[in-house]
Amino acid sequence: MMDRRTLLTRIVTGFSLIGLAGFSVPFIRSWIPAFRNEVILDVDVGGMVPGDIKVVHWLGRNVMVVRRDKTRVEQLIVSDALNDPASALSQQPDFATNTYRSRKPEHLLVYSNCTHLGCEVEFAAGNRLAGFRCPCHRSEYDIAGRVEKGAAAKLNLEVPDYDYVGRTMIRLRKG
Ligand code: FES
Repeated sequence: MMDRRTLLTRIVTGFSLIGLAGFSVPFIRSWIPAFRNEVILDVDVGGMVPGDIKVVHWLGRNVMVVRRDKTRVEQLIVSDALNDPASALSQQPDFATNTYRSRKPEHLLVYSNCTHLGCEVEFAAGNRLAGFRCPCHRSEYDIAGRVEKGAAAKLNLEVPDYDYVGRTMIRLRKG
């Protein structure tokens, strides 16, 4: 038969463990990406050569990953032929507010939705701007996803948030 002292000790220990577990859960959750309200997708770009494109489905939308060649990147300038050449009005993370609109010049990542009415743009290396074309109302974008002046779309293609988590691995993330 358990005496009062042992019973009391066990009750106190039990409550202490429950309290400790309650305090620990938020810390443990903050270490695990899935619990940080952060949604991630890793994209392997290791096998891609200049001109390749990969489309991944993420959070209900398509993201186009383009491997650009050096010459095309060097041709990206702030031009009068573009509606928002410096991406001042368009949507992209801070790191992509540059002429090539990405973390590294060789890789472009953009959502595939045209910024006019959301149609899926096509990769069209042969268009005037050597980038993307929207089949709905013919807006054209360059290889940095910047839209031409006079197009139905007024903003550049949206750039998602991402980072490199290895030499050839890109992590899309939303947090
Ligand atoms: S939806 Fe793309 S130009 Fe209209």
